[in-house]
Amino acid sequence: MVNQKGGVGKTASTINLGGALAARGHRVLLVDLDPQGHLSDALKLLDTATEGAALADVLLGKLDPARFGELPVTHSEADNGGILDVIPTTDEMFLVGPGMYQLKAREMRLKRFLAELADRYDYILIDCPPSLDVLTDNALTAADGVLIPVQLEDSTIRALRLLFAQIESVEADLRTDPLVIHGMVASMVDRGSGGLPRSNIGRSVLKALEGLGIPILATVPRGVSITEAWREGDTVATYAPDSEHATAYVEMAKVLEKGRS
Ligand SMILES: Nc1ncnc2c1ncn2[C@@H]1O[C@H](COP(=O)(O)OP(=O)(O)O)[C@@H](O)[C@H]1O
Ligand SMILES: [Mg+2]
Repeated sequence: MVNQKGGVGKTASTINLGGALAARGHRVLLVDLDPQGHLSDALKLLDTATEGAALADVLLGKLDPARFGELPVTHSEADNGGILDVIPTTDEMFLVGPGMYQLKAREMRLKRFLAELADRYDYILIDCPPSLDVLTDNALTAADGVLIPVQLEDSTIRALRLLFAQIESVEADLRTDPLVIHGMVASMVDRGSGGLPRSNIGRSVLKALEGLGIPILATVPRGVSITEAWREGDTVATYAPDSEHATAYVEMAKVLEKGRS
């Protein structure tokens, strides 16, 4: 879940797409790669990482790979076998970016770590920080594909140009295969009549985005069920399963499932 712009819905999308997938019976792991820890905080898992065995230790090469399996913390389990696990962040993550500059193969570290956990999960969703830094490069190197949350604002198009340039450079230098661009998620949309964005700017940016040739997987309206679920440490999939927000994330979950089958 990537976009170097902050406040566009990366964290809300990671939590709630993860919740939708887990409610549908999948084993899901969420990785909080943002030192600010909004995802860990929203799911009430900040400060639950074991001392000395946190994601920051992994990325800095300080943890014995034999202990990698200790990192995921379970948020919730569903009756149908669905699991929502989280690798929370810690304050040490703020030091990882600078600390990694002395390390070899620094962009490969998340990929190598997640490869050790991949058997345990059907989906791993990475919540990126709001920057095109070494942490985001780690995510773009580790991931099979990207989901891009966007807001319908004029600054969105330029932000996407920068993001695609970064993706191209990671593909050129760090990957053997191209990243799958699953699509965009239009988040916090104020909808008017006919379900279209209420404002002229919203409608015109939506049109410009449609012209990019990248699918828009879901349009998530602005609404309180997202923020209320967040406050309760829950996902909308279980907090407000009948809300239009939950439905939007189920639509996204179905697109990812289809890409698998
Ligand atoms: N559909 C939505 N309706 C209302 N508030 C939302 C919605 N999606 C996200 N938010 C809120 O907007 C803020 C920014 O979203 P967030 O997911 O944290 O963005 P990012 O991770 O890209 O910085 C958060 O407080 C979040 O709870
Ligand atoms: Mg975030």
